[in-house]
Amino acid sequence: MIQMSAPKRTNVQMLLFDDEQNSSQFDENITSSSTFINNMSLPIHRWFRYSAGFSAQWVEDTIRGTISSKSSSLLNEEKFVVLDPFVGSGTTLLATEQVGVNGVGFESHPLISRIASAKLLWNTDVGSFIDYANGILSFAKSHTKKLSQYPVIIQRCYDSDNLTMIDMLKYALSENANDSNEYHLSWLAFLSILRSTSHAGTAQWQYVLPNKSKTRVLSVYDAYKAQVELMCADMLEFASTASSIHSHLIQHDARRDFFDLENSVDMIITSPPYANNYDYADATRLEMCVLGEINGWGDLQQAVRPSLIRSCSQHVSKEKNQTFDFLSDPLLEPIRDEIFSVCTQLDEEKDSHGGKKNYHTMIALYFLDLAKVWINLRKMCKPNSDICFVIGDSAPYGIYVPVDEWLGKLALAAGFNSYHFEKTRDRNIKWKNRKHRVPLKEGQLWIRG
Ligand SMILES: C[S@@+](CC[C@H](N)C(=O)[O-])C[C@H]1O[C@@H](n2cnc3c(N)ncnc32)[C@H](O)[C@@H]1O
Repeated sequence: MIQMSAPKRTNVQMLLFDDEQNSSQFDENITSSSTFINNMSLPIHRWFRYSAGFSAQWVEDTIRGTISSKSSSLLNEEKFVVLDPFVGSGTTLLATEQVGVNGVGFESHPLISRIASAKLLWNTDVGSFIDYANGILSFAKSHTKKLSQYPVIIQRCYDSDNLTMIDMLKYALSENANDSNEYHLSWLAFLSILRSTSHAGTAQWQYVLPNKSKTRVLSVYDAYKAQVELMCADMLEFASTASSIHSHLIQHDARRDFFDLENSVDMIITSPPYANNYDYADATRLEMCVLGEINGWGDLQQAVRPSLIRSCSQHVSKEKNQTFDFLSDPLLEPIRDEIFSVCTQLDEEKDSHGGKKNYHTMIALYFLDLAKVWINLRKMCKPNSDICFVIGDSAPYGIYVPVDEWLGKLALAAGFNSYHFEKTRDRNIKWKNRKHRVPLKEGQLWIRG
């Protein structure tokens, strides 16, 4: 394997997923060293707390480092294209706007994609946004209507005053809906206060059953007003340092072809879902139930999961009997013997666990999905592009899955030239309640070619 010389980088640590609420955690608990926390002090980034995000400052430094490591005679920064095929909350795209390169991204989760798209509207005129957002609030306050029907879980998350205000703001937004930037920003202001105004013990990101009570919560109207004010201040602050180049987000499944970008990407910075059973669909259950897009957990399978990488066992239960058929797919040829052995062990191990989770199916389909992603990325990348995947390995039921190595091999099979993993931290070493003793790591998988 050719070792590539990576540009100078600062440390990046992604928040690990606390899957305790799904009772499916097998990696480790959330660590306080997540650089997502840093994003919460940055304008625009902090509009929606996305615990799966990585550090915006690190992304900016990494893009700048990569550009400066390339021969300047070959490089026109304004034509430099950075792709993030798993945009999440939009960290990479916002970073490209600060650096002054072209950013383009895919996100397939419908709600997350809508949130990130709204964040990218930060350059809307602040005065017209505040007028529109205040108009929504006045409309909500000056109208009355019968409370809409909400699923029981939502009724348990809010007291009746706050649920009434949520319902009225939602009504005001739907009555004034249009495709203006101001409307989308006001929608995001509403969406971003749903956690802070719930008295239930909903975590900032992960959906949690409302069995813990907060002693004090904000009134929905006050929280909305404060959020709009924060957004206005952030829009001005971000504009003071941003370039004039705007990025583009497409709601798109990274496993599918995207012909418009063929041979046009210089660099990829991304973090795909980890193979660690974190349920991205369930993570937005609270918001989607309030919006009326789903009525409960059961609706997620159709409403969200079909477009997501299969990285959690809930996603794959229907396919469990075909696991070993999937493993014979030619796309898995580069890792066939190893993945076959791991999936066989996982299949056997599940019978000695109460939950009998289909991790063997999850692992097979996760790598099949990522193999498809690499093939598409190869078509979109120019020769000699730099690709950085922030990734962690995994050990369901304590059986080790060398995620970085397998992803590297799949990337080579898709036509890239080299891979190299740089560890940024160890995982699963400190927590007393960890479920297994397998040492894990997290870091940057660098691919070139
Ligand atoms: C680790 S998060 C990315 C977080 C991002 N780096 C940030 O800072 O916000 C992975 C994202 O991939 C998205 N995703 C999952 N499957 C996808 C697919 N097939 N195509 C595009 N996006 C997908 C998830 O919804 C999730 O938002």
